[in-house]
Amino acid sequence: MARKPLIAGNWKMFKTHLEAIKLVQQLGYELAGHDLSAAEVAVCPPFTSLRTVQTLMEDDRMEFALGAQNMHSEDEGAFTGEVSPVMLQALRVRYVILGHSERRELLGETDEGVNQKAKAAFKHELTPIMCCGETEAEREGGLTQSKVEGQVRKGLAGVKDELVARSVIAYEPIWAIGTGKTATPDDAQETVSFIRSVIAKQFGDEEVGTAIRILYGGSVKAGNAKALFDQPDIDGGLVGGASLDAGEFAAIVKSAL
Ligand code: 13P
Repeated sequence: MARKPLIAGNWKMFKTHLEAIKLVQQLGYELAGHDLSAAEVAVCPPFTSLRTVQTLMEDDRMEFALGAQNMHSEDEGAFTGEVSPVMLQALRVRYVILGHSERRELLGETDEGVNQKAKAAFKHELTPIMCCGETEAEREGGLTQSKVEGQVRKGLAGVKDELVARSVIAYEPIWAIGTGKTATPDDAQETVSFIRSVIAKQFGDEEVGTAIRILYGGSVKAGNAKALFDQPDIDGGLVGGASLDAGEFAAIVKSAL
């Protein structure tokens, strides 16, 4: 079955819930009249805007999916400041970004933690968008493949084949995030294709490697999106800064239609 591209906006720690309303309304306006059946569009606002964006999108029958940027692995408990998969599921959240490099580098997120969260996400019918990617030094040291292989293997360890096939990986080279530097389409394709082969090997099944959606992230803009999305193994993008501008994000979405 052909993989449907996913264009997901990671808003990071931007936008109050009032600003979120405006941004989603503008995005609806920008994409009105476009047939979105060829690609899936998701917005991942901060926790404080999830309920607001959910009700807005449902009331206005917008065809966008809702995503969260993180979650805890437990259903509930004494974990001050955390949000559980049960809470996300109740908001009809479809995607949850796990193991973003900002959380790994700044907040101590580990591969083992990402693995627990991925298992919890599946248990609650949430689809993980699991991030991986190398630093500039690792790239220069020829360590790109070993870094992403370790992250992918550990992040998905022990997950059933059929669930892996339905999940999403985002390859985000850290040096390309928020820097305006983008991996060339060929370089991004090479690493994404490598990730597919890692998945196929780990799950002993070519079909799982062929089915899983793998996105590219890192300074995706309207001007470079098409060349990246046209690569055979790249199934869309995880977009940071450019997702905060409805016109720019809509143009990125259109390049996947
Ligand atoms: P930018 O698109 O701002 O580079 O961010 C990418 C990213 O981290 C998405 O998760």
